[in-house]
Amino acid sequence: MIGIISALGSESVLLSSRLTDAREEKHAGALYRIGKIDGVEVVLVVCGVGKVNAAMHAQAMMDFYHPEAVLQSGVAGSLSPSLDIYDLVIGDKLSYHDMQDFVIERFGPLEKEYFSDAPLVKIAKETTNGVVGKIASGDLFVSDKETKRDIAERTQALCVEMEGAAVAHTAHLNEVPFLALRVISDSADVALEVAFDVFEKAAAKKSAEIVLAMLPKISRALSERKKK
Ligand code: ADE
Repeated sequence: MIGIISALGSESVLLSSRLTDAREEKHAGALYRIGKIDGVEVVLVVCGVGKVNAAMHAQAMMDFYHPEAVLQSGVAGSLSPSLDIYDLVIGDKLSYHDMQDFVIERFGPLEKEYFSDAPLVKIAKETTNGVVGKIASGDLFVSDKETKRDIAERTQALCVEMEGAAVAHTAHLNEVPFLALRVISDSADVALEVAFDVFEKAAAKKSAEIVLAMLPKISRALSERKKK
C-alpha cells in the first residue's frame, strides 16, 4: 500500500475521484480514504495545513495502514527565479525554515535535512520534467520579498510550503520511504489573493496527475525492493 498525504482538499480531489473499492475511516479528525488506483492499493488523507497536522497524520497513516512508502503531493511557493507557476519540484531534501540551527544541533531528535527516498526520486525524474532540489517547510504562508529572500538564502531551497519536512521527518523516524512532489502555485512574494487563489486548484491538480502517472512505477519498484 502507498500512502498519499495532501494538505488541501484541492490536492487530493483528483486522486479520490480515481479510487475504486473505496472505504473511509476517520482518525484524529481527518478522513482516510482507502482503496485502489489503477490496481495499486493506496490510502489518501487530507491532513490540513502546517507542520503539526502533517506530522500527526503522517504518524497516524503509518500506524493504522503501514504504507510501504508515503508520498506528499501538493502546491508550493517558488523561491527560485527559474521556477514558474505550474513547474514541478521533486524534493530530494527537505528542511524546516522556522527552526533555529542551534536548536536542531542541541536538542534532538532533529536533523538539519530530511531526505526523499533516492530510488523514488529517480522514478520521479524519469517520469516527469520536474526539477530535483530542496524544499523548505514552515508554519508561514510566505508572501513578501524580504521573507522569501531570507528563507531562500538560509535554506537554498527551490520552493516553500508548510508540511513537507514534517512528513519527511516522521517518515524518517518510522523508516518509511518518502517522496515529496510540489507544483508551483505562486511566487511566494505576493499576497495570497494575487497568485495562490488564482493558480492553486490547477497546480494542485497537476501535482495529483503526476502522482497518478508515477503510481504504477512506484508500486513496481517497492514490490521489487520487498523481494530482495
Ligand atoms: N504553499 C503554496 N504557496 C505557499 C507559500 N507562498 N508559502 C507557504 N506555503 C505555500
